[in-house]
Amino acid sequence: MVEPLLEGRFGRPYRYEHECESTQQLLDRSLDEGAVAVCDVQTAGRGRQGRRWQAPQGTAILFSVLLKPPAERAQQELSLVAGLAVADTVEGALGLAAQLKWPNDVMVNRRKVAGVLAEASDGTVVLGIGVNVNQAREQLPAEATVPPGSLYTSDGVRRERAPLLADLLLSLERTYDVWREGGLNALYDTLGARDFLRGRKIFLDGRTGVGIGIDRSGRLEVDVDGERLIVESGEVRFER
Ligand code: BTN
Repeated sequence: MVEPLLEGRFGRPYRYEHECESTQQLLDRSLDEGAVAVCDVQTAGRGRQGRRWQAPQGTAILFSVLLKPPAERAQQELSLVAGLAVADTVEGALGLAAQLKWPNDVMVNRRKVAGVLAEASDGTVVLGIGVNVNQAREQLPAEATVPPGSLYTSDGVRRERAPLLADLLLSLERTYDVWREGGLNALYDTLGARDFLRGRKIFLDGRTGVGIGIDRSGRLEVDVDGERLIVESGEVRFER
């Protein structure tokens, strides 16, 4: 049970369904900010860029949270904000460094253990987060663009998901509050410290570059043949 473990605003109201198509569909946008929907298994889990997000029943944390950010904030920064919060929680649980691969993948040992999907409409954002917790290697998607991992494949420990989700919601709330007050600028140093692509060889549109960093607007800066290229959105591949 997650509800007795909740310490902050996020997770109220809390909706749990054993099975759903996607937790992204379960939150009415008229609910209060911080409303959360959680499922044990999704039959049509959504990833970024039209991809599927799959996890065997009961192995992953699959949830969505409703956000109502102030109009002056750039909503597209929210996947980075959420990625930072997930990385903090994962690192705390594992005792292993977690990094953020721009714009939204949480990485441990060069494998993606969590992803974030932000869907905006009418000034509200439904932020969907999937964390691979207890999957064994053979339960992870075979054909993923970024090699997948789970907390279990990282350290061989099977974990209860409820306390992890409660920690995650608190971390998300705290990171979101910092962003709401100060924007991405207030998280700039933390972002830099967790930047997976910095200094890595990157492939984009048939070109090769080296990651410089994430700028104060959340864009990716890449050095391509000595020129600074700014990537606003999308995804990049890195050298494995
Ligand atoms: C990605 O990395 O492509 C984003 C993955 C987001 C997956 C989560 S799981 C909970 C929520 N419901 C969905 O259908 N998708 C998000």
